[in-house]
Amino acid sequence: MRIKFFSGALSLFTGLSLFSLSSLSASAATPASISSPNGNIKLEFKLDNLGAPLYSISYKEKTLVADSKLGLVGSEAEFISGFSIASVDTTSSDTSWTPVWGEYASVRDNHREMAVKLVAPNPERLLTIRFRLFDDGVGFRYELPLQDKVNYLTLMAEKTEFRFCDDHTLFCIPGDYDTDEYLWSETSFSSLPEALASYAGHSEAQRAGGNTIQTPLLLKTKDHVYVNLHEAALVGYPAMLLDTNTARFSLSSHLVPDRLGVAGYLQLPFSTPWRTLIISDDARDILASQLIYNLNEPCAFEDTSWIRPMKFVGVWWEMFVGHKKTWAYSDDYRAKPGITDYDKLTPNGRHPANTANVLKYVDFAADHNIDAVLVEGWNQGWEDWCSFRKNRQFLFDAPYPDFDVDSIQRYANSRGVKIIMHHETAANAADYERQLDRAFAFMNDHGYDAVKTGYVGAIIPRSEHHTSQWMVDHVLYVADQAARHHIMVDSHEAPRPTGLCRTYPNWVAQESARGGEFESMGGNPPSHTCILPFTRLKGGPMDYTPGLFETRLSYYGEGKTEQAGTTIARQLALYLTMPSPLQMACDLPENYLRFPDAFKFIEDVPVDWKDSKYLEAEPARYITVARLDKNSDDWYVGAITDHNARTATIDLSFLPVGVKYEATIYEDAPDADWKENPQAYRIRKVKVNSRTRLRQHLAPGGGCAIRITPISK
Ligand code: NOJ
Ligand code: CA
Repeated sequence: MRIKFFSGALSLFTGLSLFSLSSLSASAATPASISSPNGNIKLEFKLDNLGAPLYSISYKEKTLVADSKLGLVGSEAEFISGFSIASVDTTSSDTSWTPVWGEYASVRDNHREMAVKLVAPNPERLLTIRFRLFDDGVGFRYELPLQDKVNYLTLMAEKTEFRFCDDHTLFCIPGDYDTDEYLWSETSFSSLPEALASYAGHSEAQRAGGNTIQTPLLLKTKDHVYVNLHEAALVGYPAMLLDTNTARFSLSSHLVPDRLGVAGYLQLPFSTPWRTLIISDDARDILASQLIYNLNEPCAFEDTSWIRPMKFVGVWWEMFVGHKKTWAYSDDYRAKPGITDYDKLTPNGRHPANTANVLKYVDFAADHNIDAVLVEGWNQGWEDWCSFRKNRQFLFDAPYPDFDVDSIQRYANSRGVKIIMHHETAANAADYERQLDRAFAFMNDHGYDAVKTGYVGAIIPRSEHHTSQWMVDHVLYVADQAARHHIMVDSHEAPRPTGLCRTYPNWVAQESARGGEFESMGGNPPSHTCILPFTRLKGGPMDYTPGLFETRLSYYGEGKTEQAGTTIARQLALYLTMPSPLQMACDLPENYLRFPDAFKFIEDVPVDWKDSKYLEAEPARYITVARLDKNSDDWYVGAITDHNARTATIDLSFLPVGVKYEATIYEDAPDADWKENPQAYRIRKVKVNSRTRLRQHLAPGGGCAIRITPISK
């Protein structure tokens, strides 16, 4: 039944009896406020003299976000001003939940909530703004309840402001409707235009223009307060970019539009995603924060036993290094999937997704404790995929003639290895939806339980952007349909994650940032993996593809050779600093066999954790983290630095008192250096306990990885 709260602006408080006892009446003059459970964060809400909603946030008694506007603009109605406060409801909640996988076996959700119900007249409009305050930050969202005068909304803009108070440091990437595969800038409000200009000609995707940047964004104030600004639970709505007013140190929401300029088509009742600010003066808290997951809905599935964290190798890197191998079976770009008789085409002889080669990867995986093998280029349609000459269609149930699905599955089963399916769509997302049922049925029939999806190119045939409402809906639809088939998903070129993997834990990873593959396409400086955990990773795990051992690379398509921004020891550390339930060992088996003692760490390292302790952290500089294996009493430590050498202090006081351990340390050799001597590492064993403090040398661009096992008596 529909409850009618208000009959009009003049009888605002007649609905009060409907609210809980904690409801307060408030007026424009009286701000409503709420604080975090520990009192460090305070949020105040009020209306200005035009009845426009404003909020502000303070941290440890200092203003962090000054009075900032809130509102939504639709073609049918505006929710911007003319409001009165009908009621303010406050509640608090302190619970825990158990993630299917992740950095912690249990996550605490301790928050206070304030729901401000607003009403505006002529025509009557109802809007609730719900704020949640945690010890580690703030989330708020707009809720449009069912109402008489507005049934649906063609949303043109969201008017959320974040008015910061000074010229803070910003760690950001350019606002782009289609991609987030950028290197990060460390800049400030005042230097942002310069920083953004340096990306000119960088991408073929559509940049939002102006001083627009993307979330997750990290800010650092002069008082060393860190703020991660992002969103949670992006469902049925476009992704949010941020327009920057560099003079006012202010950011405002910029929703990704469709080609007609419309941000979203909303049917009431509707709740927007949460706008999130993770806040702390200790950088380690930003990494440890689970705020974005806490603002997502609980797991949507009753049975999650089919979701299994895993490590994988792939018929993949062969296509990147040296540009010698291809996803395509033939070189004839006129070949059409389903029409061309591939048996009559001349194979190009450079197609690694062939049965014999895949079986070699299966053997390698089985021999080295790797759960699965990804195979790219197994299906028809690759001849023309990248040139976009005319045909951008793949078939997802039509293997190339040299890829024998059945015999590969039989052999993989016999060796206890899974094959990971690959669905590159070349951004033909509408066609992918049409094929989806068949594609997933094909996977079920052939024993596949995980798929890597991809959306390279401009979205056809809809001319949508990669992060507009339609694509946000599309990727969630794929994850949801996959769940119905008990399939795990790793999506590439999809909208950056917002914690939805709590609700859909089969959505085990996404790319949605510049991944390790760019070591063969321009390179990733060492600082890159020191900033991603503060930014991109707050929304969910990344399929970064660590494990690069041959770091001198021929560039993809260019024939140049250059040095990746890493040492081997650092690549091992990434398994800890870039946590994901789906971790690739990206390099070629032959490169791993050259360094079998270092590869032992990748064989051993788990991908699911009981507990995590961030020991040291500074954005874009360094990260040291310790994690407890979910299935044993082993701890693992990973430490990385930027291009500067560093001594990490690894305080093992988190170990249980009185227990003796052996630590196997995989470290940069004293003369290691990412550029000059990246493959120089040492492995040594030391006895440690809860009183040990290791001082660990990290080479320029280097790192260290440690396995700590209890010594049985
Ligand atoms: C881009 C993805 O990021 C990469 O991993 C994949 O190999 C190619 N697309 C081809 O699908
Ligand atoms: Ca990509």
